[in-house]
Amino acid sequence: MIYIVAAVAGIAGFLFGFDEGIIAGALHLLRAQFPISPLHEGLMTSAVPLGALFGALVAGSAVERYGRRTMLLFAALLFAAGALLSSATIAIWMLSLARLILGFAVGIAALVAPLYISESAPPKKRGMLVSIYQLAITLGILGAYLAGYGFSDSWRTMFLLGVVPGVALFASMWLMPETPRWLAAQGRTGQAQAVLSRLRAAPPQSPIIQTEMAEITRTATSDAPRGKWADLFGPVARPALIVGIGLFFLQQLSGINAVIYYAPEIFREAGFDTGSSRLLASVGIGLVNVLMTLVGMALIDRIGRCKLLLIGFTGTALSLGMIAIGAATEAQSLDMVALVGLVIYIGAFAASLGPLPWVMMSEIFPQNVRGLGMSAATLANWGFNFLVVFSFPVLIAHIGLGGIFTIYAMACLAGILFTLRTVPETSGIPLEEIESHLKSGRPFRELGSPA
Ligand code: BGC
Repeated sequence: MIYIVAAVAGIAGFLFGFDEGIIAGALHLLRAQFPISPLHEGLMTSAVPLGALFGALVAGSAVERYGRRTMLLFAALLFAAGALLSSATIAIWMLSLARLILGFAVGIAALVAPLYISESAPPKKRGMLVSIYQLAITLGILGAYLAGYGFSDSWRTMFLLGVVPGVALFASMWLMPETPRWLAAQGRTGQAQAVLSRLRAAPPQSPIIQTEMAEITRTATSDAPRGKWADLFGPVARPALIVGIGLFFLQQLSGINAVIYYAPEIFREAGFDTGSSRLLASVGIGLVNVLMTLVGMALIDRIGRCKLLLIGFTGTALSLGMIAIGAATEAQSLDMVALVGLVIYIGAFAASLGPLPWVMMSEIFPQNVRGLGMSAATLANWGFNFLVVFSFPVLIAHIGLGGIFTIYAMACLAGILFTLRTVPETSGIPLEEIESHLKSGRPFRELGSPA
């Protein structure tokens, strides 16, 4: 049952990746059909992260009030409506509006889906299950690249394809239960217990359900009903806020979206002469992204979050250095170094920096501000995402590709320090224990080590 829950919420992740990636294949067709200035192109393209910023802002409190399931149903409707509107567009402003709606849905889904999985999952498998969500994002990106390749002459078809996962999310979410933790927080303990028993495939009276239920209700009832934004900055939640925002800051500053966006350019530099070969090479990058996410999923609960982060930051720092050297020099032989660097970079990112901020943001915040904390963390994700994508063209004119990749590499080095000094190991630790630790006032980093 829990795998079905994770897979259904994963459809939301697929939509996230799909709606981000789809513009890459459609852009040159749109340019040919509509008169479009660079400014409008920029606005239309960035309407998704912009909408997502608003989505994340709204979703934080809405997810507490209306529940996880209702919010995912709502997002599914928006996904389908946005896809329909994009495919039927007759002007760029209309497409921008459609993408704003899609972005809004992405922002909600990016917050609610990991939370939905995390609150339903047993502690020992929580990391792996939440990273199904990241896997789904990468599958969505790959799906969008493939749609761009397969329907290279019809942008309307590309956009229309997004309706299918939107409808699938709505239909399957309809059949899914609310999370036991949200139900318990509403005082609906009986329902919470029934759902937990379904999720764990164990009778309601069995010791395993009784023990977990006792923990869930204790946390749900011991708190003030719902926290406020100010509580996020209080002594209990602040360490979690720093970790949540810090990880997304570093994830985005590692340059992932610049790399994904500019991959075709780098392939051009590396000697891929035809448009279709560059497109196919991009599909290759998309595939490495998916496959290495699977590797990350296999490792995340086994070797733990911190070790995996350290491996990821080291791998991305080194490979970004390779790309920087390859890009900064004219030598043909170094193009190959940049190309190999790019593959290693995507691999290291996908196995570590990709899934870990999503996984950890869903587990570190205390229950009464969990929605708000995740909202703040995903807001950081969209804000820094913006920053990197917008600054890329400007920076390239001033310091060149080599310079930019050096900055990204430094961000990854800073990530090593941040992990060593600040990030707690949450692997296998129940959400309630993470919360008690925060309340104890001991340094967050010492979570899991004896008092
Ligand atoms: C990031 C996205 C990125 C994607 C790439 C996600 O974890 O948040 O910004 O595009 O990974 O796979």
